[in-house]
Amino acid sequence: MSVQRTLAIIKPDAVASGKIGPIIARIEAAGLTILAARLARLSAEQAAGFYIVHKARPFYGSLCAFMTQGPCLPMVLEGEDAIQRWRDLMGATDPAKAAAGTIRKEFASSIEANAVHGSDAPATAATEITYFFNALEIH
Ligand code: CMP
Repeated sequence: MSVQRTLAIIKPDAVASGKIGPIIARIEAAGLTILAARLARLSAEQAAGFYIVHKARPFYGSLCAFMTQGPCLPMVLEGEDAIQRWRDLMGATDPAKAAAGTIRKEFASSIEANAVHGSDAPATAATEITYFFNALEIH
């Protein structure tokens, strides 16, 4: 294990339903440190670029539309084994399959509107962090 950084996003569904506070409380209770955070309203191009790896998937267009429907809250989290620990807090992509007590089980409504995002590996985290934050914005 090592100290890692990961990109977390509180997605538009969870921002709109007033879940920023409860989700950040879980992050802080888990001992992960928030190094950067900013509300962002993604353009269609920004959403499409962020999810470019899913371009061939049938849900790509709908996913990009969902991500632009309102502001989201991208964050940089840091901590020991942060990538996996944030994914454990999130739960499975599909809230119907997420474990009890996870963020997606409690706050997500569908496999698309699933409340939060987290990087899946160190290389992805580096790319995704840079997508939203420059060095001067990470504290
Ligand atoms: P995320 O962890 O941000 O990574 C890709 C996103 O695509 C995922 O969360 C969901 O929001 C969405 N997604 C994944 N699978 C599906 C699916 N089968 N149908 C609709 N959206 C999906």
